[in-house]
Amino acid sequence: MKNELDQPVTIHWHGYPVPVDMDGVPGVTQNAVKPGESFQYSFTATVPGTYWYHSHYKSAEQVDLGLYGALIVEGDRQTELDRDYTFILDEMNSKGKAGSKGMMGSSNDDLFTVNGKSGDLISAYEIQTGENVRLRFINAGYITHYMNLGSIEYRVVAVDGQAVMDPQIIQNKLLPVGPGERYDVEFTAPDSSFFIREMLNTPAADGLIIPLINRTSKKTLDETEYDGIFTLTGSGIATEYASLASNKYDQEYKMVLSHGMKGMGMIYTINGRTYPDIDPLDVKRGDIIKVTLESKDMMFDHPMHLHGHFFQVLSKDGSPVEDGAIFKDTLVVKPGEKYELAFIANNPGEWMFHCHDLNHASSGMMTSVLYDGYAIPSHIDQSQPSE
Ligand code: C2O
Ligand code: CU
Repeated sequence: MKNELDQPVTIHWHGYPVPVDMDGVPGVTQNAVKPGESFQYSFTATVPGTYWYHSHYKSAEQVDLGLYGALIVEGDRQTELDRDYTFILDEMNSKGKAGSKGMMGSSNDDLFTVNGKSGDLISAYEIQTGENVRLRFINAGYITHYMNLGSIEYRVVAVDGQAVMDPQIIQNKLLPVGPGERYDVEFTAPDSSFFIREMLNTPAADGLIIPLINRTSKKTLDETEYDGIFTLTGSGIATEYASLASNKYDQEYKMVLSHGMKGMGMIYTINGRTYPDIDPLDVKRGDIIKVTLESKDMMFDHPMHLHGHFFQVLSKDGSPVEDGAIFKDTLVVKPGEKYELAFIANNPGEWMFHCHDLNHASSGMMTSVLYDGYAIPSHIDQSQPSE
């Protein structure tokens, strides 16, 4: 990566379990790459799935202004796909500004985009009757996007890169894609064209309509009313790893998420504190760790993301996720919700664990998972901002 910007930058490989020195966190895993300098990121792409990369330097601004892209690691099933389209969803500002951190955490973004485009500028994506089509949704923005896939029957085949075992057919349910999350869906192309629409009740949503065009057909699918929203927990979905659920963990941590005021601005807190004034989650290699994420924030969603690991969602609001183990790297915690997670400490280093509303991360909602015996290498200047 060569930095041709007039400000420093780093690149983080969101969701992909890279070795720690490739994780792209300034002041923790590397020094920020100054204007005109270069940095070589290298890792082996052995874990198939849909990931993405983005700036981790002043990311609330740099990611908001578009410094991101998709990282697709193809798996064995790739040859069975006739079409494979990636849709990166985002919110942008028509005047080219980064979203502001207003008093209420509000943003001045007025456009919803896919692959950087909105409205008539969105390309048409071709399909032909009977084709096996995969769509990879990635949310690079700061709000959940509710996608309506017309009335097609689809299967959720991967979540946050992790393949779903035995994916079931879903129809007329909105697919919610939270900040930082990825959902891969597959379907058999119908004998018609159809549209994918963002259904949030705001004018910006009208600009996020993706045409899937079947040129051999003159028909367009009827758009039936959707009945409800796909929910991950309770959907029976399970990804491929064995469950970590147990009654004994090597370490247990609790992270209470909230917000408050400091001077004239908002702060977003973990256990009442802001980064870097938050104790890291200390782990030892090989440990199985349980983390309780509890929102005491009645206003904002907090899409929490752990670097370098996949975690299992053990329970939601006290009910165990029993159908199977769901492994992810980003989880949207809505106001008042409580989740229990577990992960195996299998990738030594120091790994950020933060909210993926990057305005929240830069205003405090960030901590790290720190392995016993690991220290930040001495050539790294720890005074740099880490997000
Ligand atoms: Cu995509 Cu530290 O995040
Ligand atoms: Cu947040």
